[in-house]
Amino acid sequence: MTTTTIFHCSDLHFGHAAVPEQYEAMETLIQQYRYDVVAISGDLSQRARSGEFQSARAFIRQVEETSKVLCIPGNHDVAWWKSPFALGDDHKMLENYRTFINEDIEPVVHVPGATLAGLNTSHGVVSRSLTWRVRDISIIGIVRREQLDRLRGTFVESPVGDARVVVMHHNPVKGELSQRHGLKHTSRILGAFADMSVDLVLCGHDHQDAIHFIEHTKKGTVISTAGTVSNRMRGGRPSSVNSIRLSPDSVEVSTLVWSSSDHAFVPGPTKCFRR
Ligand SMILES: [Fe+2]
Ligand SMILES: [Fe+2]
Repeated sequence: MTTTTIFHCSDLHFGHAAVPEQYEAMETLIQQYRYDVVAISGDLSQRARSGEFQSARAFIRQVEETSKVLCIPGNHDVAWWKSPFALGDDHKMLENYRTFINEDIEPVVHVPGATLAGLNTSHGVVSRSLTWRVRDISIIGIVRREQLDRLRGTFVESPVGDARVVVMHHNPVKGELSQRHGLKHTSRILGAFADMSVDLVLCGHDHQDAIHFIEHTKKGTVISTAGTVSNRMRGGRPSSVNSIRLSPDSVEVSTLVWSSSDHAFVPGPTKCFRR
């Protein structure tokens, strides 16, 4: 029976917000448990600067010695001011991300038992990302119809029986403390995922860890929201990561929480769902 293991971290915010002993502890955990995949669901940088992405690249290089890595950009990784409302060169917004992290902003990773597909929800300031909350205009996440079409194609072509995993930045479930969705049109997007038989969504952005199960008549979806690994925790909560085991009949998500006395990530809540 194939079991697939995923180390899910998010919002590393390399730059002033990064805490070296925390990302070193992540490297140790990944080497120890030899995860099949390390998924980083965006916000690798603080201000989309090249130096921040170079630090992120050093972390990824280390992790790639033991695991496959899947990364997607978050809103902090997009230099939206270089092309607001698509005025100017759209490519410039993700230039540093593409140079230092990956030219492909929606990569697909296949491992035995699972297909993981990146979905970019960070498009900078575009008309569809406008909201009544002015401070949200460059923050809100959107998914375009053509992205969903491409995602559907990826899963249709994936091996039969593979767990279907979407990795995206913005949280489709309201954060408990923030009381906000990161993503616009969440019910339509979650409905499309159910239609594609998506088993699991990996996301971040809220800076508060959470594990949810979304009921749907077609297919229920597990949502793993990873907290941040930085000094930008919400409500004074500790940094955290999620450790996931996928088997043909279950999805188990365990949160590992930073302990400043142990200088390590220690076991936190675990939830297990039937696939
Ligand atoms: Fe973030
Ligand atoms: Fe974010």
